[in-house]
Amino acid sequence: MTPVDSITVSPCSHIIGDLRVPGDKSVSHRAAMLTALASGTSTISGFLASEDCLHTLAAVEALGAGVERDDTEVTVTGTGGTFHSASGPIDLGNSGTGIRLLAGLLAGQSFETEMTGDASLCSRPMRRLKEPLELMGAHIELSGEQGTAPLRVGGNPLHAITYPLPVASAQVKSCVLLAGLYADGLTTVIEPRPTRDHTERLLRTMGVPVEVDGVCVSLEGYGIYGPQLDACDIVVPGDFSSSAFWLVAAACRPGSCVTIREVGLNPRRTALLDVLDRMGAGLSVTATNQGDGGEAGEPIGLVTVSGTQLQGTVVEGDEIPNLIDELPILAVAAAMARGVTVFRDAAELRVKESDRIKTTVAMLRAVGVQVEEAPDGMTITGGTIGGGARIDSQGDHRIAMSAAVLGLLAQSSVEVVNTACIATSYPQFWEHLKRVSSHGR
Ligand code: S3P
Repeated sequence: MTPVDSITVSPCSHIIGDLRVPGDKSVSHRAAMLTALASGTSTISGFLASEDCLHTLAAVEALGAGVERDDTEVTVTGTGGTFHSASGPIDLGNSGTGIRLLAGLLAGQSFETEMTGDASLCSRPMRRLKEPLELMGAHIELSGEQGTAPLRVGGNPLHAITYPLPVASAQVKSCVLLAGLYADGLTTVIEPRPTRDHTERLLRTMGVPVEVDGVCVSLEGYGIYGPQLDACDIVVPGDFSSSAFWLVAAACRPGSCVTIREVGLNPRRTALLDVLDRMGAGLSVTATNQGDGGEAGEPIGLVTVSGTQLQGTVVEGDEIPNLIDELPILAVAAAMARGVTVFRDAAELRVKESDRIKTTVAMLRAVGVQVEEAPDGMTITGGTIGGGARIDSQGDHRIAMSAAVLGLLAQSSVEVVNTACIATSYPQFWEHLKRVSSHGR
């Protein structure tokens, strides 16, 4: 049974804070997987010690890597190209990134591995992996009823393919590229829209040439013995998606101001800043590292947002993949903004940790906001947020955290139900909420 727990958040007049958020989830997953295959010992500083990433770390340990962890400092001794067969099924918990990226790497191993996860993960689409992996010659079986996990993968040699991605998904792109490391020849993925490029950046940092030509991303495979990855010292930037909760909270309330330090500023992740800028928020962004050194090849810096009466906007097209995880919290900004905000081209939200169009619409309606649902988005008429509501996250961490911010911005308190899921990505969330709201109560 899903644990049911609840927290009541009361309104706050000023959101003020200066924070460092925990490490980037996407980078932490990739760092764990690729250092686990490197030759030699790597260190990962600022690793996200959340449930999702700890599942990935346990998975690579089960596959033969040496792992030592002291909170967010991790030392990984790699297997030198190929994994070792695990003694049983691997459980990835709630993590789509964990299961999809590992499926790519495991497709190229000489043995089969079974992977599974929680009820939410086992309801998410996996045929999007099966199709390209089978084109590469992989053996992959999906034993869930709807083309879903549990899955078994591996045991066949792979050949390179050129694959036009049917959906803009960094997870599927990464799955194909990682399988491509074990193929003979050049694997190319053609993206319908540019998505986050953490895999490409980390592979380059570890010595694998990755070519990008417009929307085509290519790498040369190493064959069945796998890639020669250089062990390295990785510094994981703060997770921009976690910082988004405080950036939006501050942006919506005149007189508020939040600074986030040492946060990842990869342009494929920060489209939220462009949208907040259009909506009228006061923004200042300073890059402290351009991502050309080690540190996983990621730009890092400092963002400050100050609050105002936001205005409605339209969010669509190429912007969507670059703020895909921020759409629930952006919908909260839209509810506070004067006028109408339209989100479209975001049908992928329906297959996240929950159907995030449905859960976001339900969250806003619960506090009296006028929202129209569309197959690929929603239209929100903003202004003020009522409150006095009970919002069930449906076990989706980003809905739970967005509902909590809604409570800070509403006219009366909001009870958020089913909050344990927040531990999958942001274990310090409540502590940080207390910090940014302590001046305004
Ligand atoms: C992720 C990519 C995105 C994102 C997810 C993490 C990644 O998913 O929603 O939280 O680490 O590659 P899709 O690539 O499936 O859109």
